[in-house]
Amino acid sequence: MKICVMPGDGIGREIVAQALRVLDKVGAKFGKKFETEEALIGGCAIDATGVPLPDETVRLCKASDAVLLGAVGGPKWDTIDPSIRPERGLLGIRKELGLFANLRPASLFPELQHACFLRPDIVAKGIDLLVVRELTGGAYFGTPKGIEVRDGERVGFNNMIYSEHEIRRIAKVGFEAARKRRGQLCSVDKANVLDVSRLWREVVIEVSKDFPDVDLSHMYVDNAAMQLVRDPSQFDVIVTENLFGDILSDEASVITGSIGMLPSASVGAGKPGLFEPIHGSAPDIAGQNKANPLATILSVAMLLRYTSDDMADEAAAIEAAVQKTLAQGYRTGDIREDGCKLVGCVEMADAVLANL
Ligand code: IPM
Ligand code: MG
Repeated sequence: MKICVMPGDGIGREIVAQALRVLDKVGAKFGKKFETEEALIGGCAIDATGVPLPDETVRLCKASDAVLLGAVGGPKWDTIDPSIRPERGLLGIRKELGLFANLRPASLFPELQHACFLRPDIVAKGIDLLVVRELTGGAYFGTPKGIEVRDGERVGFNNMIYSEHEIRRIAKVGFEAARKRRGQLCSVDKANVLDVSRLWREVVIEVSKDFPDVDLSHMYVDNAAMQLVRDPSQFDVIVTENLFGDILSDEASVITGSIGMLPSASVGAGKPGLFEPIHGSAPDIAGQNKANPLATILSVAMLLRYTSDDMADEAAAIEAAVQKTLAQGYRTGDIREDGCKLVGCVEMADAVLANL
């Protein structure tokens, strides 16, 4: 398997380095060969080449079976021309690779119950949900967009626009995911206000005819934001458009108490998919061996499972090693608790490797 590795900025390089150690060990243990090649994206690409997504990076990604990404962005590039911000690199590679579906599982590790922000009686009901976020459409990419002067004042505008084929294909991903889980799909929109959402809902209902075994419900996004903290146990799979999914997936991850724990997969019609932790580049702790590498390590597990039909055992071995490491009490600063074994990024990975 050929993997294009893009560490990116901030803590990206540290966490990716640890994830690659885990990948190596899995390869040795299961007799699999992984070929890795590094590429630039985000701020480090701007520094080296002047743009956040060099053509060479796109070429390397397209020539690989999967892409592993750390994180992009940081204060150094906050004042740069918006058209070449580090984030543009991430949006650009999603579009270039046609990665229209972003899968963000949020589940509570029993070992981390204490880290959960919610009331114990709510936590007791469990959190195990998957946000399926549309990733290449909506307000993120819609045109017209811009800032211009009209009638003597500045106006800013974006266009939340979806074609039915875009809605249909992400809805299918949602239904298929629900079918493999607990059979419940909640489509989140704002159909009481937005026309684009009315079409979204219509098309999702059309697609549902092909999935009679999946229980479909609809929820307005404001209510969904509330329900996620009030009773997250009601959700199995949530499918939603790009911007709503951006917001709800951060919320879904933080209620598990551990944004530093959660992996994600961005996939399209074919290969490669892109796998990355949900968290950002955390410039405040970069280079200090404090970052939690587990989300990236778990992203490697997702990468193996989604990229190959016969690496489920390898993926499961990584997940089991992470769980065991948590059960042994190892914690990075973001998930620390009284009496834990507080460790840095490298030592956390050491423990995972030992458990592998
Ligand atoms: C995410 C991030 C990105 C997004 C940013 C960094 C462009 O917040 O992956 O959720 O908004 O999609
Ligand atoms: Mg986000």
